[in-house]
Amino acid sequence: MLGKLILSVGLFLAGVQAQQAANCDYLSLKCGSALLGAPYNYTTAQLVAAVNDTASIPIITVAQLSETLFHCTDILGAITGNAYCFAGCDTKAGVRNDQCIV
Ligand SMILES: *[C@@H]1O[C@H](CO)[C@@H](O)[C@H](O)[C@H]1NC(C)=O
Ligand SMILES: *[C@@H]1O[C@H](CO)[C@@H](O)[C@H](O)[C@H]1NC(C)=O
Repeated sequence: MLGKLILSVGLFLAGVQAQQAANCDYLSLKCGSALLGAPYNYTTAQLVAAVNDTASIPIITVAQLSETLFHCTDILGAITGNAYCFAGCDTKAGVRNDQCIV
């Protein structure tokens, strides 16, 4: 049973690494535009899935994903939607938190 658990964790890690180049930094907030670009290279599908799981974010277009703030929820690069930024999303350099323009 332990062997099975380790195997499934290994597959999970391999899957995550195949999806993006660099993991979003644990507990940071990042704009969709930042996550779609290097070094993160998340896919549109990953951002769409995160937004879909967040009831507080309305249905948005793919273009609006860039103006959405995402929360990095673990050290493996998992993200959840945080907020759709009506006035735009402001990216900060490096690991500093991005924020919605108010
Ligand atoms: C991430 O995306 C950038 C821009 O498209 C590209 O130059 C870079 O090679 C990608 N990095 C990885 C590790 O895929
Ligand atoms: C996200 O939700 C939209 C609108 O309900 C739907 O069309 C799309 O298939 C969903 N995508 C994913 C990856 O859940």
